Amino acid sequence: MKRSRFGGKVINKMQLKLPALSANEGMARAAVAAFCAQLDPMAVEIADVKCAVSEAVTNCIVHGYRDKEGIIYITVSLLEGRIAKIEIKDRGCGIEDVSEARQPLFTTDAAGERSGMGFTVMESFTDCLKVTSRVGKGTSIVMYKVFGGRSDT
Ligand SMILES: Nc1ncnc2c1ncn2[C@@H]1O[C@H](COP(=O)(O)OP(=O)(O)O)[C@@H](O)[C@H]1O
Ligand SMILES: [Mg+2]
Repeated sequence: MKRSRFGGKVINKMQLKLPALSANEGMARAAVAAFCAQLDPMAVEIADVKCAVSEAVTNCIVHGYRDKEGIIYITVSLLEGRIAKIEIKDRGCGIEDVSEARQPLFTTDAAGERSGMGFTVMESFTDCLKVTSRVGKGTSIVMYKVFGGRSDT
């Protein structure tokens, strides 16, 4: 049977449930980074993961829940082959057109405070980004990061 690149065995897993408050954004990125540290990543790889997690968590808060109450669900699985699978999910408003939302510079932020580069950052700082969303139900972001920096040492 053909195995996908990211279909390896799960060797460790953690889950976090946090209120959708911007005060928890730093906590979320630090927690994910600390858990991924088991895979002995390079500093630059961890910095990438932190950026990607920040973007995803911010999106849950400002877009998914529109700065109202809600819960952010974070699951990190460490897979064979030094791969982290990071899922960040909300039960907020959802996204009408995911491929449009993923375009660089696309934003629905009318106040002009957002750059529209969140998905682009998530995509370029990880090895794979999957976005699934249903209007009125919520959004799930799955990112895979392959820690390759030290595999030859
Ligand atoms: N979790 C989410 N829930 C609802 N809408 C979202 C979510 N994440 C992203 N979006 C939508 O996708 C758009 C693009 O997101 P992003 O690339 O992060 O840019 P920005 O956050 O700067 O607008 C957002 O403007 C928003 O309309
Ligand atoms: Mg964003």
